[in-house]
Amino acid sequence: MSVHAVRGTRDILPDEVAAWQGMEKAARELFARYGYREIRTPVFEETELFARGIGAETDIVSKEMYTFADRDGGSLTLRPEATAGIVRAVIEHNLMNTDPALKVYALGPMFRRERPQKGRYRQFHQVDVEAFGFTRPAIDAETIELALAYLDACGVTRHQLVLNSVGDGNCRPAYVELLRQALRERASTMCGDCQRRAETNPLRVLDCKVPQDQPLIEALPKITDHLCAACREHFAEVCRQLRLLGIDYRLEPRLVRGLDYYVRTTFEVTSDALGAQSSVLGGGRYDGLVKDLGGPELPGIGFAVGMERLSLLLPPCPPPPRCQVFLLPLVEGAQDRALVLQRDLRAAGVSALLDPEGRSFKSRMKQADKLGARFVAILGEDELRRGAWSVRDMARSAQEDVPAQRVLQYLKERTNG
Ligand code: HAM
Repeated sequence: MSVHAVRGTRDILPDEVAAWQGMEKAARELFARYGYREIRTPVFEETELFARGIGAETDIVSKEMYTFADRDGGSLTLRPEATAGIVRAVIEHNLMNTDPALKVYALGPMFRRERPQKGRYRQFHQVDVEAFGFTRPAIDAETIELALAYLDACGVTRHQLVLNSVGDGNCRPAYVELLRQALRERASTMCGDCQRRAETNPLRVLDCKVPQDQPLIEALPKITDHLCAACREHFAEVCRQLRLLGIDYRLEPRLVRGLDYYVRTTFEVTSDALGAQSSVLGGGRYDGLVKDLGGPELPGIGFAVGMERLSLLLPPCPPPPRCQVFLLPLVEGAQDRALVLQRDLRAAGVSALLDPEGRSFKSRMKQADKLGARFVAILGEDELRRGAWSVRDMARSAQEDVPAQRVLQYLKERTNG
């Protein structure tokens, strides 16, 4: 019986890794310029953190979490997203008191038991960004600008920014009540989830993807028509600053996002190239979350990029060469010298590979070519007699005799820089 990867998980194979390292490198370089530092939190947390943070009525918490009993009877969950764990760490380590500009990012795997399809996995990876302690609209605009700058840094250009405000504790309760009333008349014809949520958490009805429910949902009252003055002002200023920064957006009053912690600004970036799972990143403001999880009054805002989805949008990236120098000893006595030169090249910072299998000259040259070698250093009977290596420059198809005592320096100079 052969063993397969678990449904909804995938291997990132060596040929793909360069693209992943590119996404990671772009994140680290760009986020540092915006004052962010990396944080690494555990992949599992107490279940309660997510139930309280993300919301018990969300799809993520009610249907998709990988939850298991710990041996001591506690309940643990593989993190379905990064924000709740980061907030927990911020509170636990009092980071808001020691860091004057609390901006952190994280990279890593997340787990949701969704139905797998293109761009949707049960283990997937996020690049996650969070900023704490900023109340003004400027951070909303900066965060969105950063999200787009990140896509840009990865070479992704064709996408659309979708924007909304979901109000706050001041205006949302009245809107939710309005929604509840509107749903009382209609929910009986909607899907089971909507019927339940119409009472328990009406905002979640707006996330419903069931096709026959869509016309009803479209006709529901829109949150942006029911914002309080402060939320309206905040949102107008976010929009104004985005326009100032030359950022195009589309307003989408249904964009409440699948997590309960959002207030005011929410946003997503979508791409038609992704198919049904079109959202490459999503985020928003979550001013009450830190307090809800037992911390102080501390506003927060952030976003997360799905790396599998981002990788589908990346321009093609040929795998980097496997070695700079391929060593080709042709006769018995050459093997030892090749071993020593291989070690010396590596110590000098040059990547070197030696084919130890002694296949035919032609097939080894082919192998060197496949590995992307810049130089092939050949040591045969003739070369041994002359005390030299034949060094073949693969790019220029030219060959040169290099004295044995100079070959290391020769290859070093031509490969490093
Ligand atoms: P989210 O919208 O649930 O937000 O996820 C963010 C991104 O993760 C999505 O846009 C998508 O690219 C990717 N993603 C989500 N689920 C899957 C999946 N099953 N397979 C592949 N990719 C997936 C959050 O997670 C929030 N924590 C974002 C945030 C940070 N808000 C504030 N700070």
